[in-house]
Amino acid sequence: MFALAHLSDPHLADWSVDRPAALANKRITGWLSWRVNRHRIHLPRVLDLMQADLAEQPIDHIAVTGDLVNISLPQEFEGAARWLRSLGPANKVTVIPGNHDAYVRVRGDEGIGRWRDYMTDLGWERAESVPAADPFPFVRRMGRLALIGLSSAVPTPPLYASGTLGTAQLTALRDVLAHLGAEGVFRIVLIHHPPLYAKGHRRKALTDWSEFGDVMRAAGAELVLHGHMHMATLGHIDKIPVIGVPSASALRWHNRDAAAYNIYRVAPADSAWKLAVEIRGLASTEDHFAPSGGFELTIPALRH
Ligand SMILES: [Fe+2]
Ligand SMILES: [Fe+2]
Repeated sequence: MFALAHLSDPHLADWSVDRPAALANKRITGWLSWRVNRHRIHLPRVLDLMQADLAEQPIDHIAVTGDLVNISLPQEFEGAARWLRSLGPANKVTVIPGNHDAYVRVRGDEGIGRWRDYMTDLGWERAESVPAADPFPFVRRMGRLALIGLSSAVPTPPLYASGTLGTAQLTALRDVLAHLGAEGVFRIVLIHHPPLYAKGHRRKALTDWSEFGDVMRAAGAELVLHGHMHMATLGHIDKIPVIGVPSASALRWHNRDAAAYNIYRVAPADSAWKLAVEIRGLASTEDHFAPSGGFELTIPALRH
């Protein structure tokens, strides 16, 4: 049995603009959107409650599926690095970037490079035929389970929040999944954007969702986890469950869910895997997190 907590889109609120010149590009639209309403939705108080609840849960590892920051200011990345350390050490926490973590082009050492320790291979010897992570896709192998971290975070024009994996990453992903599949492990793919076709969401969508689906169907995976929509969702690519969580810091807002996170408990069962999903969300009193649902899935195994 392995227990993985999955949270996403904290959009850390502890930031301010110290140099107006920093807004002289796409960042201005993000700053306006933050000033108009987002600062009232993503609250440090809610995130603290989530972390307090998380600290009480018996879990083995935490996965964070992107959008830690808002407009990719260097000081936001520093704050996010501190926040990651408050979640746990790099061998207990895995992170991938979201579109807000690549809001504009930022030098790696001032941007997501600050989170590098949380985005590296761990416990897995790459076969010579598998290209080195650059840094995506990286692989974190933990017993009978592996996390595969992707980046769909690319700078986009103003008002766009789309994502792209690109051919090189998809090709490497296919190799990685095939190797891990041969080892018989439970493969969990982490990606910020939901990799499913969504009508009317072109400006927010993964541009190469179809190619990603082809790789999944060809190489296989047991579970795909994402964020980005700020909603609890369950979809499928063939038989592979695709699960999205709400923002970890948000109050309910229009059709967006209030803050919640998931705990996945994975165990082998006969010739399959049992996946129990526990959902823990912000209570209606908004002063603590509590169980707010769950479900169980049986996932075919290649072999045990
Ligand atoms: Fe987000
Ligand atoms: Fe996003």
